Amino acid sequence: MSLIKKTENYLCDVINACGYEVEIVKLEKSKMPEYGQYQINIAMQLAKKYSTSPQEIASRIVDSLDNRFTNVNIQGPGFINVSFSDEVLLTELNEGIEDFNIFVDHTENPKTIVLDYGGANIAKELHVGHLRCNIGEAVRRIITLFGDKAISDVHWGDWGTPLGLVIREIQEMYPDLPYFDVSYEGEYSKTSPVTNEELAVIYPRASKRKKEDEVYANEAKLLTERLQKGERGIRALWQHIVNVSKEDSKRVYDFLNCSFDYSYGESDADPYVEPVLDFFKEKGVTQLSEGALIMHVKEECDTKEMPPLMFVRSDGAVSYATTDLATIMQRMQDFKPDGIWYFVDERQNLHFEQVFRGAKKSGLVPETMDFRFLGFGTINGPDGKPFKTRDGGIMSLKELIKLVRDKIEPKIKEDIVGKEREDVANKLTVATLKYSDLLPSRKTDYIFDVDKFTSFEGKTGIYIVYTTMRIHSLLTKLGRKESLACIPNNETRDILVKLTELPKVLTSAYQEITTNYICEYLYELCSIYNKFYANYNIAKEECMEIQSTYIALSQLVYNTLRHLLNLLGIEEVEKM
Ligand code: ARG
Repeated sequence: MSLIKKTENYLCDVINACGYEVEIVKLEKSKMPEYGQYQINIAMQLAKKYSTSPQEIASRIVDSLDNRFTNVNIQGPGFINVSFSDEVLLTELNEGIEDFNIFVDHTENPKTIVLDYGGANIAKELHVGHLRCNIGEAVRRIITLFGDKAISDVHWGDWGTPLGLVIREIQEMYPDLPYFDVSYEGEYSKTSPVTNEELAVIYPRASKRKKEDEVYANEAKLLTERLQKGERGIRALWQHIVNVSKEDSKRVYDFLNCSFDYSYGESDADPYVEPVLDFFKEKGVTQLSEGALIMHVKEECDTKEMPPLMFVRSDGAVSYATTDLATIMQRMQDFKPDGIWYFVDERQNLHFEQVFRGAKKSGLVPETMDFRFLGFGTINGPDGKPFKTRDGGIMSLKELIKLVRDKIEPKIKEDIVGKEREDVANKLTVATLKYSDLLPSRKTDYIFDVDKFTSFEGKTGIYIVYTTMRIHSLLTKLGRKESLACIPNNETRDILVKLTELPKVLTSAYQEITTNYICEYLYELCSIYNKFYANYNIAKEECMEIQSTYIALSQLVYNTLRHLLNLLGIEEVEKM
């Protein structure tokens, strides 16, 4: 248990013993550090309940506190300010050198959560927006750290109209391929008729033609139906497209350290489409409306528009919502999750609201199901509009990666060459992309400022990785394991106090499902460590006790940075 949590429990006991009933007492980071490291604001609350002055309550509490605190004082109407004694800071944090878990207040009731992120579409290139798969990946790591069971699934878009379009276009390019011939009974080739480079141009071309040519659009629709009905040849061609496209997108996900427990797609939900439709029909919640199968999900208290959930359109096509409900049915059967969390573009909010309501109202999931739509904002270019390439096209994720990498590579020291140089450039690119993507709060759109994000200064991935590397190389040079022995100056104390704040940062990140607190904290910790590092020469420190403390302090900061970077999916480097 963290120092903060232990102390809050202690305060609860003390205050109860004073005769005031409380269940939780919060130790807040002080807003006025000149009065203390932390403050306790409960006296004001209790004053109302016990009709006593907050000052009187505060002073009774203060009188009962033991010597774990120093410099206890009351300010204003009854704010209690406290600081941990040096003794407490040293003992507690020494434990943290070996065990990062002292900073984590693990969950008391672990849950199984399915995390749906990535969401790439087969036959379409990953675009800048897919960078935001980093959020799901970081959340996977955070909830796992707290003790939950995370099951991540990329949920490929591999089954809808776009596939029919791509197949239609391939038919145009290679009409003699056997896949289109229903009477063909032979084997199909093991190699794909199209490469990923071709796919990258095929889909945009097909999608353009669909808008201009109705006959073509219809043919594509028919091909989609043939695919979904399971026609052998079309399935075989589809499988090639899926394999080629998945392999390419997976390389990018791997590059970004995004990993998935399951690589399912919409097609894997297909066997559940009929059962899920039957389920809803049996429950009597569906309705036929102008040839479409729908369900009303509007509620009395709705203030925004809530159109009915559409299962099957009047032309017989199964909707995106049905696919998601079928996927939920599959996940319930396979994983029995307590929650399913979706990390998807904020603009899909309404779709998920309808799906969640449909699933709960019908009893497909229990009322307690923890559904969350964790929408994210758009990544914009310097002009504040959706990020485009120089020639005005959609910026692919690969292009963004290259843009960042080209900026970073020349900044690496000249004597780092060959494979090592590549490795460092790749890791710093990932650090840059991830840190800048995880820093803003999830829902806000942000401008991808390449120059700013690749700087060695300020809130950037490189700054954090650089600081981490410098501490690591110092520790390697000194080569000793030490423990904290004293607090010789304020810079040292500031770092120790900052470390006591970490459990709250992690807990907030966990409870609010956000990464930006961790990013901010990383920056603050690096800044105060660098201030200390600039003021004291650790290697030349003559007093052994002080030198040992500096080494232990550096070890502690290094371990912390490493763990936090790992939560974000960022790797360290040994030189740069
Ligand atoms: N492939 C979808 C898209 O590009 C995102 C998938 C999100 N997940 C889901 N279960 N619907 O819009």
